[in-house]
Amino acid sequence: MELFNTFTLLVSTSFLLIWFWLKNNYNFWKKRNIESSHYEYFWGSMKEVFLQKDTFSDSTRKIYREFKDKGARHGGLFFLWVPLYMPIDIEIVKSIIQVDFQHFVNRGIYVNEKADPLSAHLFSLQGKKWKLLRNKLTPTFTSGKIRMMFETLVDCTKGLEKLMDKEMGKSVDIKDILGRFTTDVIGSCAFGLNCNSLEDPKSEFRVRGKSLFEKELGRSIKDAILFLLPNLMKKLNMKMIPEDISNFFMTVVKDTVEYREKNNISRKDFMDLLIQLKNKGKLVDDDQIGTEQITEAENYITLDEICAQAFIFFEAGFETSSTAMTFCLYELAKNKEIQKKAREEMRIVLSRHEGKLTYDAAMEMHYVEQVINETLRKYPPGPILNRICTKEYKVPNTDIVLEKGIRVMIPVMGIHRDPEHYPDPEKFDPERFSEENKRNIKPFTFLPFGEGPRVCIGVRFGMMQAKVGLTALLLNYDFDMSEDTKEPLEFDPRSFILLTKGGIWLKYRRTENKYTEL
Ligand code: HEM
Ligand SMILES: *[C@@H]1O[C@H](CO)[C@@H](O)[C@H](O)[C@H]1NC(C)=O
Ligand SMILES: *[C@@H]1O[C@H](CO)[C@@H](O)[C@H](O)[C@H]1NC(C)=O
Repeated sequence: MELFNTFTLLVSTSFLLIWFWLKNNYNFWKKRNIESSHYEYFWGSMKEVFLQKDTFSDSTRKIYREFKDKGARHGGLFFLWVPLYMPIDIEIVKSIIQVDFQHFVNRGIYVNEKADPLSAHLFSLQGKKWKLLRNKLTPTFTSGKIRMMFETLVDCTKGLEKLMDKEMGKSVDIKDILGRFTTDVIGSCAFGLNCNSLEDPKSEFRVRGKSLFEKELGRSIKDAILFLLPNLMKKLNMKMIPEDISNFFMTVVKDTVEYREKNNISRKDFMDLLIQLKNKGKLVDDDQIGTEQITEAENYITLDEICAQAFIFFEAGFETSSTAMTFCLYELAKNKEIQKKAREEMRIVLSRHEGKLTYDAAMEMHYVEQVINETLRKYPPGPILNRICTKEYKVPNTDIVLEKGIRVMIPVMGIHRDPEHYPDPEKFDPERFSEENKRNIKPFTFLPFGEGPRVCIGVRFGMMQAKVGLTALLLNYDFDMSEDTKEPLEFDPRSFILLTKGGIWLKYRRTENKYTEL
């Protein structure tokens, strides 16, 4: 009896304590005089996402609308019990990611160099370490370097065409095919390997790459815990990347570096540039790389650092780009006039370049670029951007102060589909990005690659990869909706990146004027 009483007392006290803590926690925004979105105890504002009844991108869009419809310039929400600040006014967005970047240098995602060397990549690194590495890597992404890699990129379209011809007449999951294409491209340009995943869908690179994004429940939960309790996890020395994936990428990179150094091999790819940074501290044709603050010695990168960067080029480069191209082909299959116009432009431009897809030819494809940008507007692969407040910040033109440690969520999807910024936002209309209409797009309302000093470092390469892939496909094939195309698109609630459930199925046939010479 005695024991039972003590037990009841303990349980009820802890229950009360938790309840008070939660009550206090969910007053977080109210106390700071910031509008709070709807929330439920424990679940926060995104319950439907956790119950897999809604997608992450739609959920953030709804919260954006909730604030916007109240006329708020910003608001606060809860990811479970963690408070997140969401700017709505584009001026505040701009301040956070560009003007007052010094207050929001980091993304606040887990990084643990010691336990998990692969996690120390450009996307997750913080503060000075990030800045230093960003300076070192920037020269590898200039237009000159992309031009140099262009051939390697175009080479990967050969496998694409071969596969398309083989599957002719069937309805295909274009997402899978493009995922294999971008795996080959990044494998080839970042790792210097012939992955052959277009030929062999069971190739190890493809399988590992896919498993990075198609997570089992256990890993999704682990990722959430790493996001919710990063400091505790760091103390416990938790690894973010599963051991087998980590071992695979580390071994592949180390073998490649060793092989190239031993045999004095240089190739036109990112790996070559990374090896130059490791051995020479600079790129051979860039003498101005060391800016004033950086000494020569600091320019060098280590083998572990090469592994982490190659890994993030792969993780950040293959799924985003293949997703963008997939949504693009889906919209083009629905809007045949636009498809025709894009194909026409490709043909006209190529005829000016002896039928060859060169870097200069790709640069001339303005309409194709409009089509890609409209795709990235309607379907931004990253539906939000995140930042963490690294230095106390007074929000401009308000008396509200955000303290250090507050997390920020920039609602990219909400902004991209806001009729104030893009009239009739559900309509797929590349004319929004035409030379004359483009000036109506307000700065910082088009954020598929982010903005400011932490903008996507691979934006040029990503755009180029999409152009090359689309050209290879549209020149030779005409795409249509098929009986298997699911309408409307159903997004995958499990994925943070914008993905559809079960891929996107399209049918296609060869176009009449065949263009094989790429
Ligand atoms: C269509 C393709 C792509 C899309 C939509 C995309 C999107 C993004 C976005 C939204 C960010 C965050 C920006 C921010 O927080 O402001 C980012 C960062 C990054 N992306 Fe991309 N990306 C693409 C392709 C690539 C490629 C091909 C690479 C590498 C080869 C790459 C490497 C990176 C890296 C390293 C970062 C971190 C930059 C930093 O923190 O300094 N991305 N990307
Ligand atoms: C490696 O190749 C470069 C040119 O590709 C050459 O200049 C250099 O001498 C070679 N080094 C060795 C050790 O063979
Ligand atoms: C498309 O978007 C990219 C990346 O934001 C930009 O550099 C380019 O100028 C845009 N092109 C057009 C035609 O709007």
